[in-house]
Amino acid sequence: MYYSDDLVEEVRTANDIVDVVSGYVRLTKKGSTYFGLCPFHSEKTPSFSVTPSKQMYYCFGCGAGGNAITFVMEYENLTFKEAMKLLADRAGIKLPEEEMSEEQKREAGLKAQLYEINRLAGTYYYHQMKQEHGRRAYEYFKKRELTDETIRKFGLGYSNPYSDDLYKYLKGKNYSDEVLKESGLVTISERGANDKFWNRAMFPIMDTNNRIIAFGGRVLGDGEPKYLNSPETRIFDKSRNLYGLNYAKTSRENYMLLCEGYMDVISMQQAGFTNAVASLGTAFTTQQANLLKRYTKQVVLTYDSDSAGTKAALRAIPILKSAGLSAKVLNLTPYKDPDEFIKARGTEAFRERIMNASNSFLFEIRVLSRNYNLNDPEQKTSFYQETAKKLLEFSEELERDNYTQAVSKEFDIPYESLKKLVNYYGGQAFVVQAVRDNDNAKPKEKLKNTKDEGIKKSQRLLLSWLIEEDRLYPAIKDIISAGDFTEKLYSDVAGKLFTQLETGKLNPAGILNDYINDDEEYREVAGIFNTSIDESQMSSTDFEKAVTETVRRVKKNSLDYASRNAKDIKQLQKIIGEQSKLNTLHISLQ
Ligand code: UTP
Ligand code: MN
Repeated sequence: MYYSDDLVEEVRTANDIVDVVSGYVRLTKKGSTYFGLCPFHSEKTPSFSVTPSKQMYYCFGCGAGGNAITFVMEYENLTFKEAMKLLADRAGIKLPEEEMSEEQKREAGLKAQLYEINRLAGTYYYHQMKQEHGRRAYEYFKKRELTDETIRKFGLGYSNPYSDDLYKYLKGKNYSDEVLKESGLVTISERGANDKFWNRAMFPIMDTNNRIIAFGGRVLGDGEPKYLNSPETRIFDKSRNLYGLNYAKTSRENYMLLCEGYMDVISMQQAGFTNAVASLGTAFTTQQANLLKRYTKQVVLTYDSDSAGTKAALRAIPILKSAGLSAKVLNLTPYKDPDEFIKARGTEAFRERIMNASNSFLFEIRVLSRNYNLNDPEQKTSFYQETAKKLLEFSEELERDNYTQAVSKEFDIPYESLKKLVNYYGGQAFVVQAVRDNDNAKPKEKLKNTKDEGIKKSQRLLLSWLIEEDRLYPAIKDIISAGDFTEKLYSDVAGKLFTQLETGKLNPAGILNDYINDDEEYREVAGIFNTSIDESQMSSTDFEKAVTETVRRVKKNSLDYASRNAKDIKQLQKIIGEQSKLNTLHISLQ
């Protein structure tokens, strides 16, 4: 359902941010702002702020921020549509009924049939297993130490050893060949219909709404392929689902266990680790990371301990990190997978391994170290070099230093030497980057790559002040324009904000609506509007000085950029003229 901008705004403005947040967080008023303990990260002193004048919230601790809609989305794990519904109900606004085109209706109807077919197949497989001829499958599950309760909970079953058993059953329910084909459970050719699964132990795959969307089928005993899975269909996109998430999402733990296989999830959940999910043997995807992020901030990887599992873990770590999740890696040795570990050593031992799960960076370095013979001086040097380069991943100096210390301790590398090496490569990276900035990069890329945190902060400050201080816009509008914000996102936001200020309709929380579909962007935009250097303590002349200085920095950066890209001498002269005017700039707010 698409809601018009006006309707989104109507719903948002009908829900005061302080009222909404107060329903979840205890807030205390300090000046014009409310503070409380952040619901999005754990903290002891309040750094979570709610500003009525902006109708926005922002956490100075973890950077979570947004408006009333994004707050309920984040807090209640809702989609945008669900959040709209909740807030509309809360304010007594009636949302328009969903109106679907013929095409959409047809698609929805087809999907509904596919869900129903999968549900029927799931029950069918379950009943086959319960009968005498399904005994082999039942006994297989029993041999793998699953209780009847677990078998039922996961809806495990058995597909009969006939080629069109399920097909006949579903035909009896009046489904057309067309639709049955789409389900992926049967194939139909001139030679007739064939079930996809036969003589296999069946594992239904459920989505987060507990609907069966696909199946995995395991051979009873040995044989290839060990597992056969439903193909992708209109209701099954394997890169967007995680096995077991329908149960894991209600777990009370603040982390999720991520493993490879069906049996791993089932044994872990049976042992009480109901926060276990699996990517099912396929490479872990960004979409899966984003899905997990709706329910947790931390993931403990419990991939198989063989080389394939290690490789898969190394691939998953950066995906988790760039989704904003922290990752740890559980050590399963000497067992192959979580299922084997729990059977051999039990629940308590597994819990201990979770507690001792290794930091993902140290895990990566440990795996790296296996490629080198550390008794060979030359190889040892190469290992140090690679490690130093990898440490540069951490852009925060303090964090980088902590890791440098941890690594030097674990691998017995003299700390000072490692630090020197890190700084050496850091310097080199800087030189390389600088050369690139000057020569090769296309202007657009350069715009995007503005690395200078300082100038970014100045740009953010200026945007924040423009909201907070209504005398500012008239004073700078002839000097600064949206194009002076070299960060693409900031420039976008500035454009929108300037339009609002020009028409006298300041509404920063409304701007945020435009970024609601991109988690990262809306966080960043919320951050922009909440940049502060505590100007409340400043005298008005100090504030004028700070504003002047900030405007000068933003403008200078933009002019420097323009001069590097000037097309002809006339343009350059104009820029130089503007640059020299900056020296005498003074912004007056009287
Ligand atoms: P594993 O081979 O580790 O399976 O593959 P497993 O879960 O430990 O198998 P059991 O314990 O012998 O029953 C991990 C996952 O990779 C997928 C399955 O999802 C499996 O659970 N896989 C594996 C396939 O899809 N097809 C295969 O042939 C093998
Ligand atoms: Mn396994």
